[in-house]
Amino acid sequence: SNRADGTRVPIDAQSIDAPLTKAAVFLTLTVKPDLDDADAVRDILDGLDDLIKTIGFRDLAARLTCVVGLGPGLWKRLSPGSAPAELHPFVPIDGTPHRAPSTAGDLLFHIRADRPDFCFELERLILATLGEHVRIEDEVQGFRYFDTRDLLGFVDGTANPVAQELDAAALVGADDPTWAGGSFIVVQKYLHDLTRWNDLTTDEQEAIIGRSKADNIERDSDAEERPSHKTLATITDDDGNEYDILRDNMPFGRPGAGEYGTYFIGYAGHLWVIEKMLQRMFLGETPGQYDRILDFSTAVTGATFFAPSRQQMALLAAGPAAAAMENTAASTDGSSSAPSSAPTLGIGSLKAP
Ligand code: HEM
Repeated sequence: SNRADGTRVPIDAQSIDAPLTKAAVFLTLTVKPDLDDADAVRDILDGLDDLIKTIGFRDLAARLTCVVGLGPGLWKRLSPGSAPAELHPFVPIDGTPHRAPSTAGDLLFHIRADRPDFCFELERLILATLGEHVRIEDEVQGFRYFDTRDLLGFVDGTANPVAQELDAAALVGADDPTWAGGSFIVVQKYLHDLTRWNDLTTDEQEAIIGRSKADNIERDSDAEERPSHKTLATITDDDGNEYDILRDNMPFGRPGAGEYGTYFIGYAGHLWVIEKMLQRMFLGETPGQYDRILDFSTAVTGATFFAPSRQQMALLAAGPAAAAMENTAASTDGSSSAPSSAPTLGIGSLKAP
């Protein structure tokens, strides 16, 4: 499973840095309340890598990966007393006129592959393994649309960080040794009113997005009458440092049902970065100047998760005692003693050993 340049093709769990694929499944579940339901989750965390390899190895070119995120409530059940400090339920936003609702979710499986049959098969096996212990809250099959466009017709994902920038933006850093290598995830399912969107001129659409439609060139934000999506989603601090996130949005839809959507998924080393973007989109930088994408797109779900690194996931799978001991060790000596932990936790931890 090696690329020509010697790096490994990821076919395992928690490869957040896996490239955009042609297909994806976003599966949101809640876990039933009993102890054996929590045990079933531990089993899937323990066995996910093997499940992925069982399918993924049958065609390495399909690049099957899966990231599992755990919601704040489940985190408390599996790892009492030790959750990432910043993790909390999705905070609904009551903007005028647009709202971002908060919806249920204990587990998120973000399955990616270049073959939809691989996504399908992994989803099937995950659900067969979890059985009656979970409830399906939401299930979305996303597909690549032409040159990675969303259904609004714009190239989506261009400003994503790459290489080292990607790890710095998407993963918890070494400054938080207990959770280093993990990632905060926010998901929102948006439904578009494509008829009204397509009534706009291309120039009006481009002003809303902040890029040109045909060739994907950034528009000058100083010349904007009203902040574009690009401008509202750009977060900088007083010193001019920009805070990026990793997005892996996918179009989905059923024309027969009039359903056209974008599934938004953002990964970040700090949850506040994504929350700040949402605040700016729904409330505006100045009141009333909200993101006009929302005039044509309705958020129907909203949930937060934390995707543990592979070492943290192994500890969660082993049970609460192991996780608690590990976190005590990590916080007293300032380093994680997780099995096979490398000195460069933040970057190495998500790759196959
Ligand atoms: C940029 C579409 C929701 C964050 C973009 C771009 C498009 C796009 C076309 C420009 C190309 C690119 O850089 O990727 C959409 C659609 C959405 C949506 C269709 C839902 C209906 C969101 C949400 C967030 C977000 C909810 C964050 C909470 C960003 C960021 C950028 C971006 C950070 C890059 C800005 C930059 O640095 O230039 N989006 N987006 N987007 N979007 Fe979204």
